Amino acid sequence: MPAYAADRNDAIHTPGPNALDGSAKVATAWLEVHLEMQRESPTGGSDGVDKNRIPNGDATADSGEHRACTFPQTVCIHSTGVAGMTRQTLAGKTAIITGASSGIGRSAALLFAREGARLVVGARSADALAELVDEIERAGGVAIACPGDVRESSHNDALVDTTLTRFGRLDIAFNNAGGTGTMAPTVDMEVADWRDAIDTNLTAMFLGARRQMAAMFEAGRGSIVFTSSFVGHTVGLPGMAAYAAAKAGVIGLTQVLAAEGGSRGVRVNALLPGGTDTPGAHDFTVDPESRAFVEGMHALKRIADPAEIAEAALFLASDASSFVTGSAMRVDGGVSINRT
Ligand SMILES: NC(=O)c1ccc[n+]([C@@H]2O[C@H](COP(=O)([O-])OP(=O)(O)OC[C@H]3O[C@@H](n4cnc5c(N)ncnc54)[C@H](OP(=O)(O)O)[C@@H]3O)[C@@H](O)[C@H]2O)c1
Repeated sequence: MPAYAADRNDAIHTPGPNALDGSAKVATAWLEVHLEMQRESPTGGSDGVDKNRIPNGDATADSGEHRACTFPQTVCIHSTGVAGMTRQTLAGKTAIITGASSGIGRSAALLFAREGARLVVGARSADALAELVDEIERAGGVAIACPGDVRESSHNDALVDTTLTRFGRLDIAFNNAGGTGTMAPTVDMEVADWRDAIDTNLTAMFLGARRQMAAMFEAGRGSIVFTSSFVGHTVGLPGMAAYAAAKAGVIGLTQVLAAEGGSRGVRVNALLPGGTDTPGAHDFTVDPESRAFVEGMHALKRIADPAEIAEAALFLASDASSFVTGSAMRVDGGVSINRT
């Protein structure tokens, strides 16, 4: 089994020269439906989508515009670009987002910036972070790239130090970086692979939160969100023992940190996405047959667009969830309850 997200350039939701066969087919199928809808409507579509736009399913720098994101069976609309902000739910706040170079973290960065937050974004890929920062700045937002490896304590400290030095406060930390690592049946799993998955998905969360909470305690406020998963919570998938154990561990970590932080104004929650159309899910979605299988596991019979998970992260990060702490919030399209 190849390592998690071996090639991040092959964004599975993005049709184009880099797209893989399976995802290109899905995108093409959606586009046909979209164009059909436009043809049927004299105004260019009843969904409010600009008929001259061809959506690519991810947030980009088209300031103030609304674009469609694409799912095999559904069309949803979400706004992109900082100039399109309407709610400003994070005005005046600062946020760290890890795993921001790709997928859910990238979508969250664009959304949080649009909502008025000033960001420090992390991931190992400096180039991808630079592109993201450029996109946010071109749309009028504020973001600083802080490349590094979340398995390193020093990187987690640098994220907080950069935020405090440059912005003077830390309000939100979306600890989202992660990945399945090398998957194998447990009897064949190498200890090094087990440790790597635990380090990336669990120990990194501890290293981040430890420093973030100290800064938030000083201020007497803050919201920490961890990306966990349905895997390890309500679903056991073969080959994913280390990942599942780590993601389940994140829920335990969340509960303890919420208990420790509550009296000091700090909320801590875990976000549990279902299958989400990101480069990180590539191994499960690139082949049309396995994609159909994964989609079928969900009650909604599709997987999420990363923008849908980002909206849930925004809820947990913002004051909209002011009485929510210690929760494991499922945003999983019903994969946890579906039995058909
Ligand atoms: N997609 C799904 O179906 C799904 C479902 C449930 C939960 N999740 C969780 O959602 C989170 C985001 O995943 P995604 O689907 O958006 O995948 P993705 O597109 O592969 O994004 C993963 C992000 O994490 C970063 N990352 C990974 N290892 C890192 C490390 N050691 N140090 C720093 N950054 C690291 C990656 O950046 P670099 O490679 O540049 O470092 C990338 O920005 C993960 O925690 C994942 O486990 C995903």
